[in-house]
Amino acid sequence: MADNASPFDLAGKVAVVTGGYGVIGGMIATGLARARASVAVLGRHRDRADAKVAEIRRAGGDATPVVADVLEAAQLRNSAAEIRRQFGHVDILVNAAGGNVMRARNDDRSIFDVPLDAFDEVLQLNLHGTVIPSLAFGEIMARQGTGSIVNISSMAAIQALSGVLGYSVAKAGVDNFTRWFAVELARKHGDGIRVNAIAPGFFVSTQNRAVLVDENGRPTARSRRIVERTPMGRFGRPEELLGAVQWLCSDAASFVTGAVIPIDGGFSAFSGV
Ligand SMILES: NC(=O)c1ccc[n+]([C@@H]2O[C@H](COP(=O)([O-])OP(=O)(O)OC[C@H]3O[C@@H](n4cnc5c(N)ncnc54)[C@H](OP(=O)(O)O)[C@@H]3O)[C@@H](O)[C@H]2O)c1
Repeated sequence: MADNASPFDLAGKVAVVTGGYGVIGGMIATGLARARASVAVLGRHRDRADAKVAEIRRAGGDATPVVADVLEAAQLRNSAAEIRRQFGHVDILVNAAGGNVMRARNDDRSIFDVPLDAFDEVLQLNLHGTVIPSLAFGEIMARQGTGSIVNISSMAAIQALSGVLGYSVAKAGVDNFTRWFAVELARKHGDGIRVNAIAPGFFVSTQNRAVLVDENGRPTARSRRIVERTPMGRFGRPEELLGAVQWLCSDAASFVTGAVIPIDGGFSAFSGV
């Protein structure tokens, strides 16, 4: 790095963002491109990936679409190999594919009525959907001796949030996996590879809108309780995740690994009293 370059700059780095056209992943893809990374926007739908790539390019950034399912190991390995062939290296992986699955929730019914396959679906999407891409892209990073992986945890990982058993178990697993993989990669592949997570508080997005906003656009009772328990008294804005993600992906965080950073307006710090 040149003496006058910012340690936060991502110029020359290649970043993969799974769920890269979702609300949070899409914002992160835009933010990494603004920080001058080349961004691979990964998701299951070509048209949506293309639209996000076009948006980033219109703003002057560099992006490329990648169609893959985060639960399909072979697809992920092929995508990782293809990106490496195209760019020569892979420096950043942000695992932003995930979210709640409505049929796994028990907001208005007994937990005993939630089908086990729904529990399994949300567990797979959020936990396996983080582990599988991390192994596919992490193997390339291990061979390079450099790389930064950022996972997306949740407030549900550390405190009981009603209605979302499977999601909570999965996100607690993401926290554990973040620490485990950070230790494994640093000990066996050197101090150039780091694994961290952000734990967003509450942000209105596609997958949770129905439980936070009613059909008239007003906050639901759950929404009001969340805001009451958030010392800053509001929901987060997706762009408020960008500073921490860019920092974790950059050389400015060169001695940070195995950390889970809350970005939550104080939600996780507050006892409620
Ligand atoms: N919103 C919040 O308040 C909040 C808070 C804490 C944590 N988070 C976490 O932040 C992450 C992003 O959530 P979001 O709110 O931005 O949700 P979102 O807008 O629904 O985006 C989720 C993205 O994941 C992709 N995806 C889903 N299944 C996939 C699969 N099997 N393979 C590849 N891509 C898949 C979706 O695209 P396709 O379906 O087209 O593939 C979509 O682009 C999730 O891990 C979520 O748990 C959100």
